[in-house]
Amino acid sequence: MHEEIITKYNSLKDKSLSIDITRGKPDASQLDLSNDLLSMNVSPINDEGIDLRNYGEPHGIRPARELGSKLLNAPFENIITGEQSSLLLSYQTVLANYIFGEPAPWKDIKKPKFICPIPGFDRHFRMFNDFGIEVLTVSLNEEGLNLIELQEVLDSNDDILGIISVPRHSNPSGEVFSDENISKLFDIGKAYSDNFLFLFDHAYLIHDFLPTKKQTPTWMLAESMDVCDQTIVVTSFSKVTFGGGGISFMAASGKNLELIKRMRTSMIICPDKINQQRHVEFFKDDEVIKSHMLKHANLIKPKFEIAYKALESIPDEYGNFSRPTGGYFITYTTTKSIALEVINLCSSAGVLITPAGSTFPKGIDPNNNVIRIAPTFVNEEDLEIAMDVFVTAIQIAHLDLTV
Ligand SMILES: Cc1ncc(COP(=O)(O)O)c(C=O)c1O
Repeated sequence: MHEEIITKYNSLKDKSLSIDITRGKPDASQLDLSNDLLSMNVSPINDEGIDLRNYGEPHGIRPARELGSKLLNAPFENIITGEQSSLLLSYQTVLANYIFGEPAPWKDIKKPKFICPIPGFDRHFRMFNDFGIEVLTVSLNEEGLNLIELQEVLDSNDDILGIISVPRHSNPSGEVFSDENISKLFDIGKAYSDNFLFLFDHAYLIHDFLPTKKQTPTWMLAESMDVCDQTIVVTSFSKVTFGGGGISFMAASGKNLELIKRMRTSMIICPDKINQQRHVEFFKDDEVIKSHMLKHANLIKPKFEIAYKALESIPDEYGNFSRPTGGYFITYTTTKSIALEVINLCSSAGVLITPAGSTFPKGIDPNNNVIRIAPTFVNEEDLEIAMDVFVTAIQIAHLDLTV
């Protein structure tokens, strides 16, 4: 049987494959769903008499903020509708606090720290790294954050400024946080400090492809726990319409909202109101968004099924994998410390997988066993081949075979 695996790997290698499943990107058929935006004419003056072509409306045009208000279930006054990137809004949040934060700007804190769940999103780690803010980690479980670890981290560290998390279809392991988990997070964080920031990156807010656990909107939970002044929620249409060509939304309140408006005023005179208007007209009502996202789901789901089928063929003792109900990633966790080896074997056979360690701060996976698979960007045929390579690479690495 070992001979068979080696022969299979070498025959796959001989195919000179070039398949990239590194990044969670929509494929062309998903992007096509929004093609009407490309040729959409919008009236230069909107219903409120705002000239969309000119400067003005720094926090977004009213109907785009109303759209954000509906999406995030937060009052209109608490919404900023920004440009094409929610990551930019997160970055502006950190930057604003770094320069102008109260009671002390973060730059004046000796050893500032922020909590990121692991495995997590490489750009989150990178963002804190840019500011010299140490990243502390807590693991995730089926309910969301591991609250025992969270409490331990808080008990043993001063100057923790907050936590960033992806509460729905977390990148990359797909957890959907329970209401109880988020509420307890609010309790624990608030007890630590009245300035502890809860930053929620809802990049996959409306991106279910299978029935998903019920979740109360995060802003509503924050309202019920009286922590709105410590809470920021961001999302975007990057994986709804066009990657980097959608619009972004933020809900914030109190001093946070003022701080971010101040920061944004220094950086941006106003967002692209024409693109905002196009999106408002494209998504006339909730039903249009729902049916649009269902079309995405119908394109994405078969790819996840292809990946699951391949992963199911791997003996359980070799590792386990996440089965998300939405989002863009599957996480495979190997039993042995072989993630780097598996990824190198795939790469030698022409299949690119997210570099080992990239879902951990500083790119170091302490157990060398977490692999992120992004099945959406390639076509189904290529995905099947890529998964075949992946399964073979797992077998080789687990059995320690020489190829
Ligand atoms: C968790 C998470 N946040 C943010 C982003 C980027 O979103 P945006 O394009 O709105 O900046 C991604 C995209 O990969 C993501 O996975």
